[in-house]
Amino acid sequence: MTYPIVKYGDPVLEQPAETVKEFDTPELHKLIDDMFESMYAARGVGLAAPQIGISRRIAGEDPSQKLVLINPEIIRNEGKQSTEEGCLSVPGFREPVTRAARVTLRAQNIKGESFEMTGEEILARAFLHETDHLNGKLYISHLSVLKRDIIRRKIRKLVKAGEWA
Ligand code: NI
Repeated sequence: MTYPIVKYGDPVLEQPAETVKEFDTPELHKLIDDMFESMYAARGVGLAAPQIGISRRIAGEDPSQKLVLINPEIIRNEGKQSTEEGCLSVPGFREPVTRAARVTLRAQNIKGESFEMTGEEILARAFLHETDHLNGKLYISHLSVLKRDIIRRKIRKLVKAGEWA
């Protein structure tokens, strides 16, 4: 099932998601399948469960690999990179964000097994972006107050025009 992507303004995007405690259930498998289906439909490269309105600590990355991260935690950040970042929940905007260049996280897979993984460049950025989502944080919170206000103002106009739903 394809879910619509929740957009900025919905409170589910700005609250910490709930820890997953039950693994390998049919319900969890279905939810993860639905997340990837919704990600493909939206042509995204990463998706966190709150972005389909489900406040649980699950993220999917890299549609070609179908990488599933449950209860991910960043355990190491190294270096710096600054490239443009966007988000399916904030469509139409892209801004440079400084992030670590090499990121190691610890997460669980669908069976509840823990693993560690290191990503560089795009994957490092995706790890940080999706983990932020699960903590109720959007990438625009990393921008300057000025830039963030410009984006918020533009979005308010889109909301008024009925073009942000
Ligand atoms: Ni996002």
